[in-house]
Amino acid sequence: MNLSKEIQKRRTFGIISHPDAGKTTLTEKLLLFGGAIKTAGAVKSNKIDTHAKSDWMEIEKQRGISVATSVMGFEYRDVKINLLDTPGHQDFAEDTYRTLTAVDSVIMVIDCVKGVEVQTEKLMEVCRMRNTPVICFINKLDREGRDPYELLDEVEEKLNIQVRPLSWPISMGKTFKGVYNLYEKSLNLFTPSQRKLSDEHIAIEDLSEQKLEDLVGRTNADQLREDVELIEGVYPELNKEDYLSGKVAPVFFGSAVNNFGVKEMLDTFIDIAPAPKARTTEEREVDPEEDKFSGFVFKIHANMDPNHRNRIAFLRICSGKFERNKPYKHVRGTKPLRFSNVTSFMAQDKEIIDEAFPGDIVGLYDTGNLKIGDSITEGEKLNFKGIPSFSPEIFREVINKDAMKTKQLDKGLKQLMEEGVAQLFTFDIGSRKVVGTVGQLQFEVIQFRLKNEYNATVEFSPLNLYKACWISSTDKKQLDEFVRSKNRHIAKDKEGKLVFMAESKAWLQMVQDNYPDIDFHFTSEF
Ligand code: G4P
Repeated sequence: MNLSKEIQKRRTFGIISHPDAGKTTLTEKLLLFGGAIKTAGAVKSNKIDTHAKSDWMEIEKQRGISVATSVMGFEYRDVKINLLDTPGHQDFAEDTYRTLTAVDSVIMVIDCVKGVEVQTEKLMEVCRMRNTPVICFINKLDREGRDPYELLDEVEEKLNIQVRPLSWPISMGKTFKGVYNLYEKSLNLFTPSQRKLSDEHIAIEDLSEQKLEDLVGRTNADQLREDVELIEGVYPELNKEDYLSGKVAPVFFGSAVNNFGVKEMLDTFIDIAPAPKARTTEEREVDPEEDKFSGFVFKIHANMDPNHRNRIAFLRICSGKFERNKPYKHVRGTKPLRFSNVTSFMAQDKEIIDEAFPGDIVGLYDTGNLKIGDSITEGEKLNFKGIPSFSPEIFREVINKDAMKTKQLDKGLKQLMEEGVAQLFTFDIGSRKVVGTVGQLQFEVIQFRLKNEYNATVEFSPLNLYKACWISSTDKKQLDEFVRSKNRHIAKDKEGKLVFMAESKAWLQMVQDNYPDIDFHFTSEF
């Protein structure tokens, strides 16, 4: 077995978008190309049915079903592609952020009518933390969308990344003619179809050829000539290194639902997207080609079915070869762990596997030993970095309604937090416990699960908090002084790190101005 060969043939990535931009549709088309599914419409995505958007039990059921599709492996042009799905529902955004720590690159889908939307901006911030390479797919060209130049400017501005179009649309909406591939110098004419798999490309080396006019009409041909001249003048050639370091995003235009422009993007993705790279740990950098296995847990999925209480931990393999049944070191724990029930995710079928390589994601059946961020190795003490917590948006205080069940409550809260359902902050004063989430739904989830799984009864009382800021300082005396003077607003996160609970944006700004030696961070890793 040649480890290096296995690594080089892998591409592990995620598709991100604001809900409804077309992530699910694009995923499905990619699976069609990979032969992982046979017909369109076969992907039951993790998208939550509209009617269930506020019904979390229903959502959990659907999320349960979606475990199988949360990692989709397939082969295309001899490359093993691992596509990590991310929850579409905004309330589970934290899940998405964490999933992004396990990918090597992303494809970002943007709706050409709506442009860059809020969720896309947030996700891009997360990508930037690790300089994750991004390819943009501007979708829904069959609709009357915004001017392509305007869209590109918006991407550059709002997402703070340079762009380089690799294809260019010829008209849009009802009069959409197709795209010109600037890289291959070929024309791809648009025919609406959900089922076709191959696009026919017509080579047009020289845009002044009469052939172009015959195919798209005089006006469109002239416009394209003008556009291409402008693009080649304005945007420098794509430099692969700039893409790989997250500075420049190649952009494609297409229509996912019509499977148009998708193959071009996929082919380029195969050519330029990074194979698994080295990863940083607190101790040192880990190269995927090291022969000793290492990996980290980035997601835990609890089974809502009371008869099957086990959980699935998702492990990203970072180096060496992972083998079933081999005893491994659980870096945070004391006991070695051996996994006999290891799942790989090939499209919709889960299958038991014996070995896996860097870039692969395996599902480990876990009875409560593992938590998000845990590192597993062949013996060395390594702690993978880059799995931070983000400041929640909604905060509520936990009110214990049954004092007899305090122990159960503490245990339940601890386990749910380890699964990443929400974040717990404990105030220094009075040990008040505050749960922070990205969405409302989690509170219902927590309340229900505490009752059902731990027999603890809680209520949540709303708190007016703006952000949780992790604090640090090079000046220990200053930090101690700050903690003392603001003690009513100081809490600890689950790892015991100091957090300043800011009540409003203005107040936080004032405190920041008053304490220039204290650093305020919106994520737990800095
Ligand atoms: P998401 O996962 O990002 O949330 O988006 P999803 O793929 O579910 O797409 C959202 C809607 O946009 C779907 O319509 C989908 O059919 C549509 N869509 C995706 N790609 C294109 C495209 O290229 N052109 C056009 N015109 N529409 C596109 P829906 O009505 O919500 O669902 P459905 O009933 O069509 O499945």
